[in-house]
Amino acid sequence: MAIIKKFRITNFKKKTEILRLEKISVYFNKRKILEDLNFNLQQGEILGLLGPNGVGKSTIFNIITGLIKPNYGSVYMYNKNITNDPIFERTKKYKIGYVPQHGGYFHDLTLRENLKAISEIVIEDKKLRSEKINLLISKFELEALQNIKADFLSGGQKKRLVISLALLSDPNILLLDEPFAALDIMTIKNLQQIVVDLQTQNNISIILCDHQARDLLSCVDIAIVLSNGKVIAKDTPNNLIKNIDAQNAYFGDSFKIN
Ligand SMILES: Nc1ncnc2c1ncn2[C@@H]1O[C@H](COP(=O)(O)OP(=O)(O)OP(=O)(O)O)[C@@H](O)[C@H]1O
Ligand SMILES: [Mg+2]
Repeated sequence: MAIIKKFRITNFKKKTEILRLEKISVYFNKRKILEDLNFNLQQGEILGLLGPNGVGKSTIFNIITGLIKPNYGSVYMYNKNITNDPIFERTKKYKIGYVPQHGGYFHDLTLRENLKAISEIVIEDKKLRSEKINLLISKFELEALQNIKADFLSGGQKKRLVISLALLSDPNILLLDEPFAALDIMTIKNLQQIVVDLQTQNNISIILCDHQARDLLSCVDIAIVLSNGKVIAKDTPNNLIKNIDAQNAYFGDSFKIN
């Protein structure tokens, strides 16, 4: 697997912190899901979340967007506590874009109608709406698919549509929940390039999670391994796979990136 990221920004210390999750605990029906979870995201960084099924990756995204309120702990954007801010305010004021693990589009609308429907909510200027839609259709090479009902698009085409929908509102942060799931090798490579381009060309900070650990590690700056509701390791991909705690909890001892 080729490393998609040509260079990694390894020193984020001088950069601005955009998001921080502090001492987050979440319980569902008294079952502990996340416990005292802490991590942050720097402006312009691509951060990967790794961890087994059910560890709480999608729950973390839901906490950031405001779909779930943590039982304990706080979420900060640019050092402002947004734990009690409603979903629409986080989306609008702090420009958080979200590509969910499943769905995220109107099944019965065509690709263009999907973009039109969301643009009517997030872009006030009518002329700007169609300009933005055309730009995204061209950027993601969706021209030939614009009049096809979303339900009939292939898995990779749906992913490109849902990412386009999230980009309509010009997010500062983009959350991608398993973008590579069930996609073929070339489509994954194409999506990895899209992710890296969003960082380098649009300065969007990105958090993504995926079970395709190699694919994830080849396009992030830094990654986290989650286990038992906590962050057990956070490092650059090359260092992370050598981390003993990360190996024991997630990678095993023979995992290699290339
Ligand atoms: N609304 C809810 N009510 C009860 N339990 C929930 C709820 N949402 C999530 N859970 C539970 O919380 C845990 C974490 O779920 P989550 O979807 O965040 O895992 P995940 O890491 O995204 O897993 P996967 O890799 O399979 O997508 C799971 O045990 C799940 O059953
Ligand atoms: Mg999930």
